[in-house]
Amino acid sequence: MNSSDGAFRDWSARCLEQLEAALSEWVPLSAPAGLGQAMRYAVLDGGKRLRPLLCLAAARALSGAPTSSAALRSACAVELIHAYSLVHDDMPCMDNDVLRRGKPTVHVAFGEAQALLAGDALQALAFELLTPEDGSVALPVQALLCQALARAAGHQGMAGGQAIDLAHVGLAMGEAALRDMHKRKTGAMLEVSVHMGALSAGADSHTLVLLQRYAQAIGLAFQVVDDILDVTADSATLGKTAGKDQANDKPTFVSLLGLDGAKAQTQVLWQEALQALDQAQLRDDGALRVLAQRVVQRDH
Ligand code: IPE
Ligand code: IPE
Ligand code: MG
Ligand code: MG
Ligand code: MG
Repeated sequence: MNSSDGAFRDWSARCLEQLEAALSEWVPLSAPAGLGQAMRYAVLDGGKRLRPLLCLAAARALSGAPTSSAALRSACAVELIHAYSLVHDDMPCMDNDVLRRGKPTVHVAFGEAQALLAGDALQALAFELLTPEDGSVALPVQALLCQALARAAGHQGMAGGQAIDLAHVGLAMGEAALRDMHKRKTGAMLEVSVHMGALSAGADSHTLVLLQRYAQAIGLAFQVVDDILDVTADSATLGKTAGKDQANDKPTFVSLLGLDGAKAQTQVLWQEALQALDQAQLRDDGALRVLAQRVVQRDH
């Protein structure tokens, strides 16, 4: 399987159809006082859906069975946390952005209070999705999925990384500190996407470790590429405002290593990810390989 391969295109088109239908069913328009509209606006009609695809790709790598309830719910849960993180990231108290996924940001469209609440509600909904009462996900699996997602989203992961990001506006950061920030604010959610997909498919601990190595490499690579695209791409292609890191005086891999240095890092990380897959010897890792390539070679 490679990125131009029909097998990947067919697989990802099927997954995306399933994901969009599930998200549309599970994010309720009926939430009171316009909250449902803000939630749906934040989640539907946009985004590359990289995290849910990674989750489903990890499950597929281990199991030949059709997408399980645990895998689909995990995929939607990670996307809900991601969407919430974007809503809050864009607010005036954080990055103060007006464009996201090619549309006005949630606080521009619905006001700051509704954006805050939409983020809160999406975060809670993610955990509700992981705890169905219909018996489709075994209780011990539910507990492991919730624990992993809580750790990735919270102070040890995304929220902690965002705190570091805001604390370093206008300050230089060394490479170790910058890596740590990127691993938390962005890497943790990519890592947990792969982990939850693998857990859903009953991965053993050896496989989980190798998949973690894969996911940590592409997780960091993803934010390095985000830093690069902020400098090299335009707002229309990105669907968000280009040049914001410099405008907000944020330390990034580009400000630390320059464009060429940052690009070289992404190549090293890509190779690390592929080596981990080589070692894992999974049933079918084709989609994971294509997604790693996408992370590094994407243009938005
Ligand atoms: C953007 O993530 C925020 C970061 C973590 C860098 P994506 O580039 O995956 O955003 P969408 O989901 O495609 O909009
Ligand atoms: C955001 O990083 C990471 C999140 C946890 C949302 P950025 O602030 O660089 O993301 P963009 O560039 O606004 O998408
Ligand atoms: Mg930010
Ligand atoms: Mg931002
Ligand atoms: Mg960015």
